[in-house]
Amino acid sequence: MSIQTVATKLLFKLPRTILNRIIKSDPKDVERKNNLEKPWHLKGNWAPVKDQISIDNLEVKGEIPKEIDGMYIRNGMNPVSGHSDHWFFGNGMLHGINISNGKASYKNKYVRTPYFEKDMGMMESSFDLRASPANTHIIKHGGKILALEEAHLPWSVDKNLDTIDSYDFGGKLNGPMTAHPRACPETGELLFFGYQIMKKPYLTYHRVSKEGELVQSEAIDIPKPVMMHDWNITRNYVIFMDLPLVFDIDQAVSGSDPFGFKPECGARLGVMPRNGSNADIKWIEINPCFVFHPMNAYEDGNKIILHVCRQSKAMVGGMDEIYGGEDTTGKLWKWTIDLPLGTCLEEQIDDKACDFARIDDRLVGLKAKNGYAMAINERAETLTFGHHLYKFDLEKNKRLEHCLGDNVFGGEPIFVPKKSCLSEDKGWVMAIVHDENVDKSKLIIVDTENFDKKPVGEILLPQRVPYGAHGSWLSN
Ligand SMILES: [Fe+2]
Repeated sequence: MSIQTVATKLLFKLPRTILNRIIKSDPKDVERKNNLEKPWHLKGNWAPVKDQISIDNLEVKGEIPKEIDGMYIRNGMNPVSGHSDHWFFGNGMLHGINISNGKASYKNKYVRTPYFEKDMGMMESSFDLRASPANTHIIKHGGKILALEEAHLPWSVDKNLDTIDSYDFGGKLNGPMTAHPRACPETGELLFFGYQIMKKPYLTYHRVSKEGELVQSEAIDIPKPVMMHDWNITRNYVIFMDLPLVFDIDQAVSGSDPFGFKPECGARLGVMPRNGSNADIKWIEINPCFVFHPMNAYEDGNKIILHVCRQSKAMVGGMDEIYGGEDTTGKLWKWTIDLPLGTCLEEQIDDKACDFARIDDRLVGLKAKNGYAMAINERAETLTFGHHLYKFDLEKNKRLEHCLGDNVFGGEPIFVPKKSCLSEDKGWVMAIVHDENVDKSKLIIVDTENFDKKPVGEILLPQRVPYGAHGSWLSN
């Protein structure tokens, strides 16, 4: 624990009267005092922005390669009231950067769901599938752009980032949808699951055709309701992660943390054929752990290889401590499932704390050589993004680092392919990062062939973009 952390903890414990005596007179002190009273997810660059703006011809440092043509949209939490009880609960705000012909423009808009319009709390929203914060991810499939969170229906938005409506696949989806569906690059299908904690089935699998029709839904048996944030697909299978971040209704009713890490409940990977059902799942025991985000999975003969950001525990200090400390921070692991034997070999392949892993989306579920992730500061008390992006060579188990600079902190790295080239080696990594020195955000464009060099271009954004969640590149 750092001296700064100890000092902060002590300050929290001081009686308000003494604190007021310490912080007085200077106008900036009021801001400092307010800051001290806020939870981490509302302070600094986690704090929401108020304005929804649209600005063209953004200032660029370096240059934007002419071949980049499309829009990067990133979703994230931005509580409309200025307050949310948890980072996960803020209203979804979309930040869109349009890039074409070497120029860029920016706009940001809220996803206007009932959760936004009525400024709901998470508990209230749990009774209405449409009342999504819509704050976690944004994807495009079957001609629709969907803003996602994991306890509600998706919300459809247009390329202007204006909200259209909730989307239930023509009335066929009657439960929540994960924020991490996977689009198969070979079949064009969108595969996803939904989990719910208050009633069975705790888990449901869904398959959507390339054209956007929901063609299959299967209830999946798992023994307890768990937080299941993400999952994996391969050419022939989907792999569920039944990990012991368990929902406890008694704890929720008593006002304590609803989710607890319970290694005694065990951990399992469920391998199911993509057109299979609950009866076809092969459950494989692994050591208790938690994974927010896998990097990718693929088949190798009768084995399945997964690369995941694995943490040995989760939320041990309660839901507020999403990350914090080495045990609750992801590191890159390789899991090798032997299907005939029903075993899983678990190997840590890198020791740097990281998460928000991505690959070239054209290789999802297939063998990809390159994976990308954002560094996480594992010595911080609360979730703190690091000042590196990582590129992993998954064949050689090697890591390249892209340093964002002193006091510049990261965002999820997205791979943008070169249109003229099918190779995953040629393209750019984009990320919205924040320069704490000047309290400004920028979209960096890093050439993946020169990953450890400075970005080829930096698009200076016209307002701060709070640290957020996931995004997608929508090519024109
Ligand atoms: Fe996520």
